[in-house]
Amino acid sequence: MNKKKIAIIGGGNMGEALARGILQTKWATPDRMMIAEPLKERVDKLKGIAHGIKSSHSNVDAAGWADVILLSIKPQIIAHVLDEIKPVMKDSKMVVSVVAGVTTAYMEKRLGGKVPVIRAMPNIAAVVREAATAICPGKYANEEHMSVARHIFESVGMVVDVTEEPLMDSVTGLSGTGPMYVFQILEGLSDAGVKVGLSRDMANALAVQTLIGSSKLIKETKEHPAKLKDLVTSPGGTAISALHSLEKNGLKALLIDAVEVASKRSSELGSKKE
Ligand SMILES: NC(=O)c1ccc[n+]([C@@H]2O[C@H](COP(=O)([O-])OP(=O)(O)OC[C@H]3O[C@@H](n4cnc5c(N)ncnc54)[C@H](OP(=O)(O)O)[C@@H]3O)[C@@H](O)[C@H]2O)c1
Repeated sequence: MNKKKIAIIGGGNMGEALARGILQTKWATPDRMMIAEPLKERVDKLKGIAHGIKSSHSNVDAAGWADVILLSIKPQIIAHVLDEIKPVMKDSKMVVSVVAGVTTAYMEKRLGGKVPVIRAMPNIAAVVREAATAICPGKYANEEHMSVARHIFESVGMVVDVTEEPLMDSVTGLSGTGPMYVFQILEGLSDAGVKVGLSRDMANALAVQTLIGSSKLIKETKEHPAKLKDLVTSPGGTAISALHSLEKNGLKALLIDAVEVASKRSSELGSKKE
C-alpha cells in the first residue's frame, strides 16, 4: 500500500471518480485522502464516499497536508489555484494535473522551485473505472513520480505513458474527448433502430451492447479493426451495403476531422496559458 497522503483539489466529476477509484483499489486509505472543494453540499456528499476521508474548503491546507496534490479543477481557475498553493509547495511533494491543455512547463513556472509535475488526460469513463489515461512527466518528475501517477490512474482504467508533451493534446482530442464521439454514434444508432421500427429501449440496448461486444472483440483478439471489418462483410451482404453508405458519407473523414479539431483546441487552451 502507498504511504503518501493525497489531496484532490476540485471534487467535481473527475475528482470524485478518482477518489472512488483510488479507495476501491485500496492503494490509499481514507485517512490518507483529502478533498478540497468550495461547495459545502458537494463536500458533504464527497465525505460519504468513505468513512474517515478528509475534506477541506482550503486548497492551501489540503496542499500543505498532502504529499501528492491532484488538480481536478477547470482550466480557467488553474492560475489562481497554483498561486494559492505555491507558498506551501516543496520539491518533496508532487502535483498531478488532469486539467485539459495546461502544460507541465506552465505549472512548474507558476509553482516555482523544482516541484515534480505530471500532466494526465483521463476520460469520463473513470466513473465506471474503464478510463483510458495518458500521463506525461514534467522536467522534475522521475520514474518514482510516474509510478505514483500510474497507480492513481490504473485505479480507474488503463494507462499509457507519453514522453513528448505535445502529444497530450492529441490524446485529449482522441480519448479525452472520445466518450463524446461514442455517445453521438450511439445516439445515432439508437435513432436508426427507431427509424427501422424498434422501440427506443430495445434500440438503445442493442446499440450499446453491440459497441461493448465489438470493442471487447478488438481488445481480446488484438486484431486490427480493418481485419474484423473484412470478417463481417460477406459478398453481397448487409454489412457491405451499409459500409458503402458510410464511406459515401465520409464517416472516417468526419472522425478524423473531429479528433484533429479537438487536439488543436487543447493546444490553443494551453497556449493561452503560456
Ligand atoms: N470530465 C471529463 O470528462 C474530463 C476528462 C478529462 C479531463 N478532465 C479535466 O478534469 C478537470 C475537472 O473536470 P470535471 O469534469 O471534474 O469538472 P467539474 O465537475 O466542474 O469539477 C471541478 C470542481 O472544481 C471545483 N472548484 C471550483 N473552484 C475551485 C477552487 N477555487 N478550488 C477548488 N475547487 C474548485 C468545482 O466546484 P464548483 O462546482 O463549486 O464550482 C467543481 O466541483 C478539468 O480541467 C477537465 O479538463 C475532465
